[in-house]
Amino acid sequence: MPRLVVISNRVALPDENGAPAPGGLAVAIADTMQERDGLWFGWSGEVSDSPPPPTTIDHGQMKYVLTDLRTSDFHEYYNGFANRVLWPILHYRVDLAEFSEADFGGYQRVNEFFAERLSPLLEADDIIWVHDYHLIPLAQALRVRGHANRIGFFLHIPMPPPDFLTTLPHHAELIGALADYNLVGFQTDNDASNFARYLTRVLGAATPDGRHYHLGAQHFRVGVFPVGIDTEGFHRLAQASTPSAGAAELGESLAGRTLIVGIDRLDYSKGIVNRLDGYERFLEKYPDWHGRITYLQISPATRQDIPEYADIDAAVSAKVGHINGRFGAVSWSPVRYVSRNHQREDIAMVLRLARVGLVTPLRDGMNLVAKEFVAAQDPADPGVLVLSQFAGAAAELDAALIVNPHDRDAVADAIEVALRMPLEERCRRHEEMYAVLEANHIRYWGLNFLDALVRPGRGPTWLPSWSMTY
Ligand code: G6P
Repeated sequence: MPRLVVISNRVALPDENGAPAPGGLAVAIADTMQERDGLWFGWSGEVSDSPPPPTTIDHGQMKYVLTDLRTSDFHEYYNGFANRVLWPILHYRVDLAEFSEADFGGYQRVNEFFAERLSPLLEADDIIWVHDYHLIPLAQALRVRGHANRIGFFLHIPMPPPDFLTTLPHHAELIGALADYNLVGFQTDNDASNFARYLTRVLGAATPDGRHYHLGAQHFRVGVFPVGIDTEGFHRLAQASTPSAGAAELGESLAGRTLIVGIDRLDYSKGIVNRLDGYERFLEKYPDWHGRITYLQISPATRQDIPEYADIDAAVSAKVGHINGRFGAVSWSPVRYVSRNHQREDIAMVLRLARVGLVTPLRDGMNLVAKEFVAAQDPADPGVLVLSQFAGAAAELDAALIVNPHDRDAVADAIEVALRMPLEERCRRHEEMYAVLEANHIRYWGLNFLDALVRPGRGPTWLPSWSMTY
C-alpha cells in the first residue's frame, strides 16, 4: 500500500508511551496508519536565524520530520499572512485583515521552503495530504519540483463567499493554486458551495457536475468531509474523569449550583464577548436563576503576538468583571474566567459536569468542542448544547438548541430553555446527536478523504448536496 505523507503547520507527536496525540488529525492519521507507512512533515515549533536540517523521529510505521523556520519568515508567514490575513478573511472578518506584500512574500517563501525540504523525502507513489490555510500553495511548489503524486488538501476553517475572498490581494493567484491538488476538501456543504461559486464566477472554472472542475489545464475535485471526533474514546475519558480529585473540587466549589460551560481558544471568531452579552441578558431577564448557576469560561490564550488577540483578552476580561460587578454577591460570582491551559482529561471532566454547553462562535469551520460536549455527557442525565448556527457542527448537530450568536436575547432565552429542559427531552436530543457523532467517527473522516483522493473514478463519499444542482 502506498505511503501516506501528511503535511501541516503543527505536528502532533505521540506521547512518551507511543499513544497518538489527542486531537482530530493525529487520531485520524493513526487509524489510517494500520496498513501503511506514514510520514508527517511540519514545523518544529522552533525558529532560528539559520534552520538546521530537519529532525526525524521514527515511531513504528510513522516517521515525523520537523523543520525549524527562519525567524523573519515565521513572523511574516504565521503571525502575518496566515493569521492576520487568511484567518480573518476566511472567518468573514475582512475588517480585521491587515495585508502586507512582505507578509505575503514570507508566506510564499515558507511554502517553498517546506516543499524544498520535503521534496527529497518523497517517493513517486506516496499519497500526499496537506492541511489547512497555512499551506494553500504547497501542491504548486511540489508540482514545480516534478512531483506528480496524488495530492489532497483539506481546509479545516470556513471558506467564505466570493465577495469576501475577492477582498484578498492576489486572491486569484492564491486560491487558484488549489487547482494543483487532485482533491480539495471542506467541512460543510456551505464551504464547498462558496468555493464552487468562486471557482466558476471569479476564476472562470468549468464544472460538469459541481464535483469535478477544469481550470486551464488542471483538473481537480471538490468534496465535503466534516471532521468528527473519537466519540466513544472521548465518552470513556469523560466518564473516567468523574471520580477524580479535580471533579470533586469543582463539585465542591459549585456548592450545588448548576454549571454552564464555555471552552474556546481565546480567538475573536469564537464570539466570547457576544456570548457574555447573551449571558448578561439572561441574568437581566431571568433573575430567579441568580445564585443558582455558575458560568465557567475556559479560554487559553493563543497567537499572542497578534494585536487582535491581545484586544480580545482585554475585552473578555472587562466584560467578565462588568457582569460579576453588576450581578455578583459576596458569596456568588456569576462568571468564572480561566485562561490557563488544561489537560484533556480535565476538559472532558468539566464538559461532563456541565448542564449547559455554550458553543457560540461567530464563525467556525467545525468546532470540535461542540462534539466533545455531546460525547462527554452521561446519557442517563445529559446536558444541553447551545450551538451557534455559524459553527460547521450545526450542519450535523441540529438537535442542539441552535442560536444566532449576534442575537443576545436569543442566547439568553436558549440558556433559560436549556436550564429547565425536562430530562426526557434532554435524553432524546442527546441520543440523536450522539448517533450522528458515532456515524461520523474521526476514523471515517480520514479514510473517506483518502479513499476519494486515491480513486479518480469515484466521487467523494460525502457528496455535497448542492452538487446535483450545478
Ligand atoms: C485552528 C486551525 C489549526 C490550528 C489551530 C490552533 O483549529 O484550523 O490549523 O493549528 O486553530 O491554532 P495555532 O495558531 O495555535 O496553530
